[in-house]
Amino acid sequence: MIVAIDGPSGTGKSSTSKAVAAKLGLSYLDTGAQYRAITWWMITNGVDVDDADAVASAAGKPTIVSGTDPSHPTITVDGVDAAGPIRTQEVTSKVSAVSAVPEVRERITELQRSIAASAGQGIVVEGRDIGTTVLPDADLKIFLTASPEARAARRSGELKGADVHATREALIKRDAADSSRKTSPLAKADDAVEVDTTDLTLQQVIECVVTLVEEKR
Ligand code: C5P
Repeated sequence: MIVAIDGPSGTGKSSTSKAVAAKLGLSYLDTGAQYRAITWWMITNGVDVDDADAVASAAGKPTIVSGTDPSHPTITVDGVDAAGPIRTQEVTSKVSAVSAVPEVRERITELQRSIAASAGQGIVVEGRDIGTTVLPDADLKIFLTASPEARAARRSGELKGADVHATREALIKRDAADSSRKTSPLAKADDAVEVDTTDLTLQQVIECVVTLVEEKR
């Protein structure tokens, strides 16, 4: 059972995907964390993230390992725990530039496919291009949406009191970059089920997705 959950930031993708995977005994993969990890490695190693050629030639260098237990997802870069550093403002503001580079996407997509192929009971994979590009044969594809206001309010809550207006602007900018890049942009697959989470609680979204997965089993 392969479940692809895509959508822009702040739609509840991560919380939903983790909870659904835990509830159904599936593995879990946060593909955004992988793009953040490679971005963090670029910054730490002095690669200019706005220089696409430099990013492309460095794309194969770091070793990124994702742990797929939904109750304890982990990510390491060259053996170093990167779970904290990949969530900084600096990484968030630079990740769209790095993830737009085709050599980066090729590398990370390959990693994602091999993780999905070796997940025994099945896996919930969340991201931006899972249903369209990474796993087009997924058993179930879900595309989560929410109004920009709802998404910004959720993100500000997670960032403990960050300014909602500034968060909204940053989210819109990142989504626009992710949706307009040439290589596998953020997009809803034709056969994905769209769930608008604006007026739903997290619990309601989880229940809705669990029901959709159970219908497919
Ligand atoms: O999901 P998260 O906000 O952590 O993703 C960070 C960034 O990683 C996104 O803004 C996007 O640039 C990139 N990403 C991607 N493709 C994916 C998942 C994430 O390009 N499948």
